[in-house]
Amino acid sequence: MPDGSRPVPPPIAMLAELTHRCPLSCPYCSNPVDLARREAELTAGQWADVFGQAAALGVLQVHLSGGEPASRRDLEEIVAAAREAGLYANLITSGVGLTPERIAALVAAGMDHVQLSVQGTRAETADRVGGYRGGFARKMAVAEAIAAAGVALTLNAVMHRHNLDELPEIFDLAERLGARRVEVACVQFQGWALENRAVLQPTRDQVEKAKRLVAEARAARQGRLVIDFVPPDYYADLPKACMGGWGSTGLNVAPDGTVLPCHAAQTIPGMVFANVREVPLAEIWYRGPAFAAFRGTDWMPEPCRSCDRREVDFGGCRCQALAVLGDASAPDPVCRRTPGRARLDQLLANEGNAPGLEAARWRRIGG
Ligand code: SF4
Ligand code: FES
Repeated sequence: MPDGSRPVPPPIAMLAELTHRCPLSCPYCSNPVDLARREAELTAGQWADVFGQAAALGVLQVHLSGGEPASRRDLEEIVAAAREAGLYANLITSGVGLTPERIAALVAAGMDHVQLSVQGTRAETADRVGGYRGGFARKMAVAEAIAAAGVALTLNAVMHRHNLDELPEIFDLAERLGARRVEVACVQFQGWALENRAVLQPTRDQVEKAKRLVAEARAARQGRLVIDFVPPDYYADLPKACMGGWGSTGLNVAPDGTVLPCHAAQTIPGMVFANVREVPLAEIWYRGPAFAAFRGTDWMPEPCRSCDRREVDFGGCRCQALAVLGDASAPDPVCRRTPGRARLDQLLANEGNAPGLEAARWRRIGG
């Protein structure tokens, strides 16, 4: 059903990628392989202008992310600007680079919530995955400082073949650190993670076991810990509405000011992206060609076009269709109602004899 006549809703959330710099080098990182350098980053003043435009557009929450946002020495100024614009400021951090003094300064600047990532619960493996010796111990100290500062904390872990069996320990850790919510999301294969797909892909048995553990933990920890679990796409039968539907609820601003409909959109060949240094954010959202490209249902091929789920998942993830099928305008290959699914099944079969973690490509600026 064509939907060209419908008004475009305003965005609710913005992901502000303040920098691609990061002391860690996780192979599951969703940042692009071609990482932005420090010289290209927006200044704090430019971010303040972006936040003001975002709030005027209807954005309510800003997720301050990276790379590692604490790599920016002016993070406190940026948080204050988000608060000044009236946005709910959520800091997504590895914790490395934060100190009790910096946390206090961020709280004073208006930081509302912290999402702290861990690579696992065992220091040795977590440090190995993050490529940073001593990182796990520093995160634990940072978590204590966040709790002491009274800021709401969510613990966040990207799950993959080498840590999925640690799920119960991750829930224990979240409770021990005073988090009220834990987000355990299986790795999405974009950016550096796509480079490492064969190394990171969990097995079907691991995924089934993880689903059972999550169901048990939700029942046992009800009222103490909220558990958000995102199972891996490749083992699902139907896709998710990536970004809640392209150009419908959120937008990303890359470190250099490029405005993206999703974090991996720059992988799509031929797509032209505007920069907020040159074009107003409202113009980009409502009339930018990149946002219009896959918005709604008009762009859809069959079988999505006549499918009863077309306004449930909006054809799934464009970047996943590109990564697996080489065509961003194809239905998400996760979908069992489409011919592309055979390719995904083939990939899973090929990745049965997966290489160990030592074969991973750890992320770094400059490739
Ligand atoms: Fe979603 Fe398209 Fe599959 Fe229908 S056919 S479930 S719209 S991906
Ligand atoms: Fe780009 Fe899903 S990551 S549409």
